[in-house]
Amino acid sequence: MDNALIIGASGGIGIKMTQLLLKKGINVIASVREQCLNKFECLDTLKSNYKSQLIPISMDVSSQKSVEKAFSLISEHTNKLHLIINCTGLLHNDEGLHPEKRLEDVNTDNLVQSFTVNSIGPLLIARYALPLLRHEERSILSNISARVGSISDNRAGGWYAYRAAKAAQNMITKTLAIELNRRSPHTICIGLHPGTVNTKLSKPFQRNLKLGQLTTAEQSVNYLYKVITGLEKKDSGKIFAWDGSEISP
Ligand SMILES: NC(=O)c1ccc[n+]([C@@H]2O[C@H](COP(=O)([O-])OP(=O)(O)OC[C@H]3O[C@@H](n4cnc5c(N)ncnc54)[C@H](OP(=O)(O)O)[C@@H]3O)[C@@H](O)[C@H]2O)c1
Repeated sequence: MDNALIIGASGGIGIKMTQLLLKKGINVIASVREQCLNKFECLDTLKSNYKSQLIPISMDVSSQKSVEKAFSLISEHTNKLHLIINCTGLLHNDEGLHPEKRLEDVNTDNLVQSFTVNSIGPLLIARYALPLLRHEERSILSNISARVGSISDNRAGGWYAYRAAKAAQNMITKTLAIELNRRSPHTICIGLHPGTVNTKLSKPFQRNLKLGQLTTAEQSVNYLYKVITGLEKKDSGKIFAWDGSEISP
């Protein structure tokens, strides 16, 4: 694995994954949203330690123009990516997006925001990444999904927008795997559930967790890296949890 792209490097999981890959000697292009690019100190520190091994760029996955522009910039740096990990995701924000507890909480704006980042973003990434994944070496296109996107595992209900958008993401992963098998036969396309990880995304929902259920982002990315390195072609289209177990759709 020579060249990786981490999308959403400003997030709890994204920044730890960026650090891990750099430590492993992999060249990393790390994307954050434009407004973060010059304000995100973690990436600045990494850049000063890893110099040309790390290339920070901007990408907003909710904008097709931004995704297209980012990939055009990436292709000026390399014509080959071996690993893409899309670490972006949206469950809540300061602008009034909260996971729904009941039907009365459902509204169109929240659904659209969630689908835009959690489902459409991954598809746009695949669209523009294809030329860089299509080479003779193994390449992996992965999205960080979530166990709550599994329809068969849905016991608690609620969280309509996030659950449905992650389920749609999983369908997109499967559909991409079928197309990529034809058009980019060395590419494996998967979804990854990182566990319940101590990040900004999970912060408001950590109160009722069982002891030991919450992991650090550092632990999570170490597990995910192990899953990624053990992947085989037959795994394409599947969703895996941090411990390597397959999650049913
Ligand atoms: N933490 C958990 O327990 C848990 C459990 C299951 C699944 N996941 C999944 O794991 C992934 C990473 O989440 P996390 O826990 O690391 O959460 P996080 O710290 O909140 O990170 C989310 C990342 O998504 C980025 N993002 C959101 N909207 C974006 C957009 N329009 N364009 C580009 N980037 C955007 C954020 O960028 P900004 O910094 O600019 O907002 C941030 O980098 C997500 O897919 C999440 O659904 C997490």
